Amino acid sequence: MHLLPFTFLFFSSYSLVRAGSANVGDACSQGQNRLQAGTYQFWSECNSQSYCGPDGKCVKKGCRRDDFPFGYQPGDHLPPKCPKGQFCPDEEDQCQTVLPVDSDCQLNRDDQCEGPPNWKDLADISGRGINVNGSVCLNNKCMWANRTLGVDCLVENTPYIAYGTDGEFVDIVSRGNCALGLYCDAAQKVCMAEKNLGEACTADKECQSWNCLASGVCGVSEAVPRHFAIWVYVVVALGIFGGMFGTLFALFWTHRKQRDEEREKRLQYWREQNAFHQNLLQMRETARASILSLPGNGNSARSTMYSRDGAYTDDAQAPILANAAPKASGLRHYMADDGSSEFDDGLMMQPPRQPHDNRF
Ligand SMILES: *[C@@H]1O[C@H](CO)[C@@H](O)[C@H](O)[C@H]1NC(C)=O
Ligand SMILES: *[C@@H]1O[C@H](CO)[C@@H](O)[C@H](O)[C@H]1NC(C)=O
Repeated sequence: MHLLPFTFLFFSSYSLVRAGSANVGDACSQGQNRLQAGTYQFWSECNSQSYCGPDGKCVKKGCRRDDFPFGYQPGDHLPPKCPKGQFCPDEEDQCQTVLPVDSDCQLNRDDQCEGPPNWKDLADISGRGINVNGSVCLNNKCMWANRTLGVDCLVENTPYIAYGTDGEFVDIVSRGNCALGLYCDAAQKVCMAEKNLGEACTADKECQSWNCLASGVCGVSEAVPRHFAIWVYVVVALGIFGGMFGTLFALFWTHRKQRDEEREKRLQYWREQNAFHQNLLQMRETARASILSLPGNGNSARSTMYSRDGAYTDDAQAPILANAAPKASGLRHYMADDGSSEFDDGLMMQPPRQPHDNRF
């Protein structure tokens, strides 16, 4: 059965780690040993570190199958793994010698069976789990995976419960004792050659690629890495660099606008200050001139000196009233004008005359 790329095939991790709760020395019943529904994982009443012994008590395990078994803490003493030529049964009580053909074996434990003399030819090294060292455990009996094309064969179908995005579904695993490159057809019970890409199929096991598509033909192996065309990389790279530089330029533009605004404000401030300064000078000048020109106080020498010094326009000599700068409003008014350059050219600002202004 073909699994979609985004289908998760997992066996409930809850039951994967879960063992019984009885500790070493507690009472247990071997009659409770079983394979769990859906996952076919071995279960007993004893906890992960023990098995149910023959005298009805939990006993520490005598061997382990995994490099890193569940249920142990760091530093715990682990039972040994079995050496070559031996196996550790599901109960994990002790290592046993591999079993000859026709002996009883446990589900999916091909490794419990002794390999054939020509194991080098028959052994599956593809990692698909077709056999172990040329031997298989089918329907709990050891046999060799040596059946040839067109010869009768045995098949074992095991329905596992799997979970996909759409919920629970049944995943049937079908195993046979045909030699490599062949599969055991479930209906005819005869070994058939595995099919090439594009040929019609009804199950994954029929395809060389191990992938029977939903459309009913053999597809490329799911294990083949997916390659993308060069343009995909180009588009992604453009996207990355475009995004980076786009952000940089957007920030640059925004900040430039802000900078320009700030500069304009500072310029305006400078202009106002300058205008005030000029006004003050002018007022001082006017005041001096008017004081000097008072009758009886006249002193031509000083007058000359001041006028040389001041060197302002005629307006500077005008009566103070006429020159009184209407304070902020006048400046603002000036600033609102085109702002160009009377100042920059060093000319003095002339606030608009307000003849009727008689605040002084
Ligand atoms: C395979 O089986 C043969 C025969 O039983 C045995 O001699 C050999 O060591 C086994 N190979 C492996 C890798 O277990
Ligand atoms: C094939 O394997 C069976 C055991 O499963 C054995 O009895 C038989 O002799 C083997 N046949 C060949 C040709 O090796």
